[in-house]
Amino acid sequence: EAIEKGGYEHFMLKEIYEQPRSVADCMRGRVNADSGLLVLGGLRDYVDKLAKTKRIVIVACGTSWHAGLVAEYIFEELARINVEVEYASEFRYRNPIIKEGDFVIAISQSGETADTLAAIELAKSKGATIIGVCNVVGSSIPRATHAGAYTHAGPEIGVASTKAFTAQVTVLAMMAIAVARKKGTLHEDTFRRLLFELERIPSKIETVLKTDEKIKEIAAQFKDSRNFIYLGRGYNFPVALEGALKLKEISYIHAEGYPAAEMKHGPIALIDEEMPVVFIATKDSSYEKVVSNIQEVKARKGKVIAIVTEGDKLIPTMADYTIEIPAMHEALIPLVATIPLQLLSYHIAVLRGCNVDQPRNLAKSVTVE
Ligand code: G6P
Repeated sequence: EAIEKGGYEHFMLKEIYEQPRSVADCMRGRVNADSGLLVLGGLRDYVDKLAKTKRIVIVACGTSWHAGLVAEYIFEELARINVEVEYASEFRYRNPIIKEGDFVIAISQSGETADTLAAIELAKSKGATIIGVCNVVGSSIPRATHAGAYTHAGPEIGVASTKAFTAQVTVLAMMAIAVARKKGTLHEDTFRRLLFELERIPSKIETVLKTDEKIKEIAAQFKDSRNFIYLGRGYNFPVALEGALKLKEISYIHAEGYPAAEMKHGPIALIDEEMPVVFIATKDSSYEKVVSNIQEVKARKGKVIAIVTEGDKLIPTMADYTIEIPAMHEALIPLVATIPLQLLSYHIAVLRGCNVDQPRNLAKSVTVE
């Protein structure tokens, strides 16, 4: 096992550190900005059909569901297709409205999640075309779909999903870009720019991994907290949900992810000097709004940890701690902004003496309903 961990203390840490490579593997042979290449072999015959569909329903569970939420924002913005993201377990038990011509994208690391598999069978019986985004080659879900794209992240051993998530978002972003281009909703310049930016994601993740020591120090400050709030807007809202889920899963600290603006409809009542609030506050279209949300938290003496864009001068004057990430196209920020949150939860869990790779009560793959 020590050999398998490759010198890392836990599989989770190894898998966090593998992300520059796993994201690159996920794009290998699929993206080339210089030649304007974007191909997903398994979807070759489906990009056309996706470009014509009026509706995409995404079904998934857990972290994969968060990848689905990111995909919703990307598909809607770039391809202007109506996307709904469903928990597989809710979708399958409520007689969902699925019509012939609808596309269902099922996202699953393991390819074995019982509820996701059942949701696929139900949607298929109603005439939907099913696309799979899975990591484990030859697992049950890819076999139940019409077509799909593997994430090629390599085996993920840690129960809390890390590199599978970034690979899922990478595949879904590639898919959305390909469909948007086919549909004509994406300007050629933006298409090229997105490919260029995708190719740079692995090195940006590498840069963020270098902030690990700083994140460890922040973790030490908050390891005894009993609650956490994670806030983000737009593309960073799913990142907030994923950050909170990671913390819950492995450190057993109660954490809630919320859209930053919704804070005033509830969670703001929880804020006092004991409450750490993690903001994903990158320089994007909602930056100014997030800045005022940070002010609202500081006015109530909450402790702010902010993920900011490199060179941000304003937020460091307000937040208690900041972690910088490089600038990039807004749609791709979740791929990089998630990394410091994975590290934060990892270090907090280790400091609390938790079993990081096998947290209590959780399974890597939930094959029961
Ligand atoms: C379990 C795992 C999570 C995972 C979820 C969905 O809860 O602990 O890490 O996100 O199942 O699994 P899947 O394999 O379908 O992505």
